[in-house]
Amino acid sequence: MLRTHTCGELRISDVNKTVILSGWVQVVRDKGGIIYIDLRDRYGITQLILNENATDLNAIATARTLSREFVIQVKGEVIERIAKNDKIETGEVEIKVTSLEVLNPAKLPPFLIQDETDGGDDIRMKYRYLDLRRNVVRQNLQLRHKMAQQTRIFMDAQDFIEVETPVLIKSTPEGARDFVVPSRMNPGEFYALPQSPQTFKQLLMVGGFDRYYQIVKCFRDEDLRADRQPEFTQIDCEMSFVEQEDILNMFEGLIRHLFKTVKNVDMPEVPRMTYADAMRLYGNDKPDIRFGMEFVELTDLAKGKDFLVFDSAELVIAINVKGCAEYTRKQIDELTEWLKRPQIGAKGLIYVRYNADGTLKSSVDKFYSEEDLKAWAERCGAEKGDLILLVSGEANKARKQMSELRLEMGTRLGLRNPQEFKALWVLDFPLLEYGEEEDRWFAMHHPFTSPKPEDIPLLETNLGAVRANAYDMVINGTEVGGGSVRIFQRPLQQRMFEVLGFTEEEAKKQFGFLMDAFEFGAPPHAGIAFGFDRLCSIFGGADSIRDFIAFPKNNSGRDMMIDSPSTIDAKQMDELKIKTTV
Ligand code: AMO
Repeated sequence: MLRTHTCGELRISDVNKTVILSGWVQVVRDKGGIIYIDLRDRYGITQLILNENATDLNAIATARTLSREFVIQVKGEVIERIAKNDKIETGEVEIKVTSLEVLNPAKLPPFLIQDETDGGDDIRMKYRYLDLRRNVVRQNLQLRHKMAQQTRIFMDAQDFIEVETPVLIKSTPEGARDFVVPSRMNPGEFYALPQSPQTFKQLLMVGGFDRYYQIVKCFRDEDLRADRQPEFTQIDCEMSFVEQEDILNMFEGLIRHLFKTVKNVDMPEVPRMTYADAMRLYGNDKPDIRFGMEFVELTDLAKGKDFLVFDSAELVIAINVKGCAEYTRKQIDELTEWLKRPQIGAKGLIYVRYNADGTLKSSVDKFYSEEDLKAWAERCGAEKGDLILLVSGEANKARKQMSELRLEMGTRLGLRNPQEFKALWVLDFPLLEYGEEEDRWFAMHHPFTSPKPEDIPLLETNLGAVRANAYDMVINGTEVGGGSVRIFQRPLQQRMFEVLGFTEEEAKKQFGFLMDAFEFGAPPHAGIAFGFDRLCSIFGGADSIRDFIAFPKNNSGRDMMIDSPSTIDAKQMDELKIKTTV
């Protein structure tokens, strides 16, 4: 037997037991006559003690050869500690070792395997199996496991069936870039890895499955960020004979179940906001509503006073930053520079201080009287002690810049506590968005999304105004899920492809299987997919999804540990009939 107990298990009630423990050496403290070893495994740390007078001399000699991360096995007796350690659960006891065996020596790890490590990102990724030994990383993966378990419990109780869909599928031109896989048996032809199981889950509805879900890997060849990985996991769901309202209620239920069972948080009813309001009030389709600071439009008040910047602007917007009137000139200059960085691209920042003595002072006093500023302050709901910040320009750009500024001020003022959770449904997205570069319309969600029935006539007159039956769930400013009511009739689906610039032939070639299926009794259906990695990172209070994935890729899409992607040998290339010029 390699162990009778784990390193996190023994308590004062186990005193006098003879036990066998196995694990990794966290640290050895040689105090001359007495050697202490902290032995670690997934469950915790147990202190071992070897006494020169009482312990087998072989064991003492072996102990002196140990260093960090050696794998050892010890036999001994559980005794009560004299100096107790209340920081660890096994801290009242220690093991008086009678024999010690090295199961496997270890090279010195390239970084400290502790909560606070000295290892940078790259080195931790290259030796991810060592990183996984750290509590923080292990706890994140345990959280992920719990989330998956609880998802399955909820979905099963609601009669959803988990069905696996294929991973080798077909490349489609919509959405992100596909990862493709050459087919040896069909030279010159390629499979694509699924960006999501979208069409398959719709076909499962045609197949009568009614309530489907799957915790499933998806693949997208897109630029990576903290909340994006090239392969990531969705909780993918679809239901038949439902309307938008049914989906919102069902999946609000899932999220509340997860918060309750995993975090013991009672999530209140999830508020709803239209896309149009989200853009108007927050300049963002995924607003962080842990704090207010909503946009206030001042265009009408700001124009006509000979201040060219505002006179030429399509939109002048303000936010009221509570209690920040005392911001120094230096702080405001620094904020202005921050806003002017190319990533944000604002031309400048105007401010109004509502001083404690009731006076108003702005960076545009030359153009605006105190009366003018008072009118701004009133509309912003500002009070003495507040700071009003204004951004102007072309409406969309100004909103985007102001959204960044709002989030930055929220962060600076400590209003974005990662342990506070605010969920939001964003509804009524536009069906289509115009791609300037490509000079055509794109589906904002995907081409299978249904327009709102009352907006269908607009498909013939005003494409930009058509609203979709599409919804996103946002938590703390992150889009954690999105879905839609689907088109389920061939003529409307065909019309949609037409709008997206497909010829009849192209539509048939790419999606003929789906449109054919719609002619064999497709039920009305709708669904949603949650970004599982993102949900886990939010539950874990972290910004990056990487530490919630066992073996993630870096920002260049590389797996640093297995060194992938990599070249393949000439024989494989030949078999696949791939020629390369590289
Ligand atoms: P969508 O493309 O909005 O919808 O994706 C659903 C959710 O998946 C997460 N997500 C990602 N997470 C990590 N890395 C990525 N690269 C990544 N891309 C997306 C997001 C997002 O909200 N088939 C539709 C769903 C449907 O209509 O039912 C779909 O895939 O959290």
